[in-house]
Amino acid sequence: NLRKAVIAGNWKMNKTRPEAKALIEELKPMVADAGCGVVICVPYTNLETALALTEGTNIGVGAENCHWEKSGAFTGEISADMLAEMGVKYVVIGHSERRQYFGETDETVQKRVRAALDAGLTVILCVGELLAQREQGITEEIVGLQTKVALGGVSAEELKRVIIAYEPVWAIGTGKTATAGQANEVCRYIRAVVAGLYGQMAADGLTIQYGGSMNAKNAAELVAQPDVDGGLIGGASLKAPDFTAIVEAAS
Ligand code: G3H
Repeated sequence: NLRKAVIAGNWKMNKTRPEAKALIEELKPMVADAGCGVVICVPYTNLETALALTEGTNIGVGAENCHWEKSGAFTGEISADMLAEMGVKYVVIGHSERRQYFGETDETVQKRVRAALDAGLTVILCVGELLAQREQGITEEIVGLQTKVALGGVSAEELKRVIIAYEPVWAIGTGKTATAGQANEVCRYIRAVVAGLYGQMAADGLTIQYGGSMNAKNAAELVAQPDVDGGLIGGASLKAPDFTAIVEAAS
């Protein structure tokens, strides 16, 4: 496997600044020798803290969302340019919680991907089916459509700054993990979709993560799958030993 595995934490709406500081300081030495990419995506209020504490380390820092306009009358929003200027390198786009609770659509995801890439950021693009969709047998159609719309207008060169995270919605925060086989099957399908758009070489170089109740216990089996290149970790990224165990499983 020539692709780089990346383990990214998605802290979601967790950690005050002192809590963030404590977690990052604990984590830093533990993942210093990681054999995979390590990223932490944190609330906006923790970005400055995270950037300062990880300077010169192997930990990349990301935000959890960004708006598609550069600036303007969009109360409560943060632009990709604002993130890039701070030194933020990654941004999660299209997380299912954004889609479920904040009206995110494939179209707004596409606009945010565009803005993030224009700002020079690396995008962690989330796709995934609902339980009802899996039960209906339309997982591939849903995930394929989400992938295609989000990548609309993204060039082959820009694709090098895209990571896709396959997160079945029924597995997020539920303790219900997709089996390693299920995870690999959909990640492989996403790669085939990308191959159709950009060619096999580009698809073979794309990092595709699995996300959804990945933890210290089940990570090794998931990341051992040929088409699973690491993970996007929610709950288990909030504790340094758990997150480290997942990083080690992917190293
Ligand atoms: O972005 C992370 C995913 O939503 C997974 O969250 O590991 O808490 O299930 P979880």
